Amino acid sequence: MLNELVLKNRSYRAFDESRPISERDMRALVELARFVPSGMNKQPLRYRIVSTPDELAKMYANSRYAAALSIKLPPEGQKPTGFIAILRDTEISSPEGLALKDCGIAAQTILLAAVEMGFGGCMLGSFDPAKLSADLSIPQRYQPLLVLALGTPSEQIVLEDAEDPSNVSYYRDAENQHHVPKRKLEDILL
Ligand SMILES: Cc1cc2nc3c(=O)[nH]c(=O)nc-3n(C[C@H](O)[C@H](O)[C@H](O)COP(=O)(O)O)c2cc1C
Repeated sequence: MLNELVLKNRSYRAFDESRPISERDMRALVELARFVPSGMNKQPLRYRIVSTPDELAKMYANSRYAAALSIKLPPEGQKPTGFIAILRDTEISSPEGLALKDCGIAAQTILLAAVEMGFGGCMLGSFDPAKLSADLSIPQRYQPLLVLALGTPSEQIVLEDAEDPSNVSYYRDAENQHHVPKRKLEDILL
């Protein structure tokens, strides 16, 4: 059910490389993204699937994971096995703000579907867009907005209520388990 999917859809940063996501799986995810809402129905988003070893290595080198933690993620041998870059076609006249909203909707839809298929991923906003375009030979008219790192998760993530609303930072416990505090309902309802 959707409830379970939303809860299971965490930001995973460690993957089982022996169970990779295939290009075909990622094509199915983009096929689904065709049907998400789009401001003014302009549909300015484009998608670039990454699945070859050479391009995977370049994408991996150009992404930052859990910068707030002082540990190296993903752990060695547990890297993402696929990426989907979400880009905006700047030749389609859609206000940038609308395209960014479209991007969020598409990204979450793709990740929810990935979880339903037995995969998982992490949205990555921390990358060098110029390097991404150069590495993937993407023409200048396409502006990289967000990257989705994908694979079969190899870590468990603990969701918990944020007892202290002034501190919602994610953290790792003594067993290296990742914890994500979420604000309580009474703290987000105005
Ligand atoms: C727009 C956006 C950009 C993000 N960029 C990164 C990123 O560059 N690297 C990373 O490790 N996590 C990134 N994240 C994941 C967040 O850190 C994560 O959503 C947050 O810690 C809450 O964890 P959860 O997704 O499991 O609820 C991003 C999330 C969003 C929504």
